[in-house]
Amino acid sequence: MKMKTILGLLGLPALAAWWVGCGPSETSQTAVGETVVLDTATEHWRPRFHFAPPRHWTNDPNGLVYFQGEYHLFYQHNPFDKKWGHMSWGHAVSKNLLDWEHLPVAIAEDTAMIFSGSAVVDTANLSGFATGPGGCLVAIYTAHRDLGGGKTHQTQHIAYSNDRGRTFTKYAGNPVLDLQQADFRDPDVFWHAPTRRWIMVVQLPQPRKTLFYASNDLKKWTKLSEFGPAGNPEAIWECPELVQLPVENEPGQQKWVYLLSAAGPYPGYQGMQYFVGEFDGTTFRNEYPADQALYVDYGRDFYAAIGYNHLPDDRRIIIGWMANWAYAGQTPAHPWRHVMSIPRELALRRTPAGYRLVQRPVRELAQARPPGAELDPIELDDEPHSLDGGAVTGRVLDLELAFEQDDAQQFGLRLFEQGDQYVEIGYLPATGQLYLDRSRAGVAPTSERFSQRDSAAVPLTDRQLKLRVLIDRSTVEVFAQDGQVVLSNAVFPLPQQRGVSFFAKDGTAWVKPHVYSWGD
Ligand code: FRU
Repeated sequence: MKMKTILGLLGLPALAAWWVGCGPSETSQTAVGETVVLDTATEHWRPRFHFAPPRHWTNDPNGLVYFQGEYHLFYQHNPFDKKWGHMSWGHAVSKNLLDWEHLPVAIAEDTAMIFSGSAVVDTANLSGFATGPGGCLVAIYTAHRDLGGGKTHQTQHIAYSNDRGRTFTKYAGNPVLDLQQADFRDPDVFWHAPTRRWIMVVQLPQPRKTLFYASNDLKKWTKLSEFGPAGNPEAIWECPELVQLPVENEPGQQKWVYLLSAAGPYPGYQGMQYFVGEFDGTTFRNEYPADQALYVDYGRDFYAAIGYNHLPDDRRIIIGWMANWAYAGQTPAHPWRHVMSIPRELALRRTPAGYRLVQRPVRELAQARPPGAELDPIELDDEPHSLDGGAVTGRVLDLELAFEQDDAQQFGLRLFEQGDQYVEIGYLPATGQLYLDRSRAGVAPTSERFSQRDSAAVPLTDRQLKLRVLIDRSTVEVFAQDGQVVLSNAVFPLPQQRGVSFFAKDGTAWVKPHVYSWGD
């Protein structure tokens, strides 16, 4: 089966059929055209501090909720295969958002697939589902029915759990919301304290419209308002997330931010956008021009992110899916396919252009990482500088880097480096662009849509560029200027690609690295 998958990915179905069961190793092409043998048993791409399912397919995170000491991560999951299908809610729990305990499927497909949605804690038992004093968990999801002949029917359903999310009972009165629509999905439900009711934010993907509903018991929903279309309208709307965020360095100041999965910054690729404004409990009002598009992430692999409900502190934390529908079915298949992003804490920053989203890896990562090495500033020129003369390498790294430009026309670093294979992160002062290039990053998925250079405008501050870079065996996440711009990509380097080096071109630049390495 494994053979069939990889060769099928390479576009060789006949050979794939012949090769099934022929041996333990698989071949693939690297991005620079070399043929390599992959030993899938080594699981060398399984991330160390990012979530990946034990096996089989995942897409969106679902039902992120904190309850009785556990962070829950439910996720779109095919329990039977490494491709999309039989969608159910997979389940894992964590105490620190980094180490996950895998649990059985929480909500399984029935006559409908279980699409994306939320989970809330019904502390006061307003739903009537709770059997104990602590309240219960209620999941709100989209039931997706295939009616045949290309027709579908999507409705909103609920299910409840009285055993800390281990098992769910589907509500006998489902659906709780049915507009007789083919596409109507991804409910984002949260408790709105000022009006003492739950709010549901849910998408009509094709007309790019978001509908707002309210409920006192999670069963009866009353329509409040609509929003959209707005922003970059080039793709359908999915996975809404409405959240109130603190403004950095302005105690007490908060704004509502509406994040959604829609058209991304690269034409033809889905991504995430956000709008900043106010939500009065009934209507969301975007305070910026309707056609202004603000993007959450400038990599290609950050989608369907939603936030945690019921957190024990006042943080706002999201997790996204690190893949892109443009090639999600064609990336190398492991025992599992696809991973989640590092959980990110959100805030807003007031900039001359207006409020902008800032995202940082949750502080639990800094608490869990190994002791760091603070290196002396390195002067960069046309010769590549490996870290500490090659002593610092690794495939699992957390780097805090302060660059300063002298007169270099380009500067940056290479990760997962071995010979002419690497991932490059660089800055071009002339255009003010930060880029992330995975086109020579090891094993290339068969889709030519995968290997692209991503870039984003990042202004230097006093000629300085601050980067926090996380790599975790098959992920790269770059947080620039204290989280104001983020680029996230999946990568598939070979196990021996573990070098780190810095460079400058046509002039000099400096870097002061702070390195936290888990090694391999
Ligand atoms: C987003 C999405 C959702 C849907 C789910 C199905 O990636 O298309 O709109 O609920 O995936 O797996």
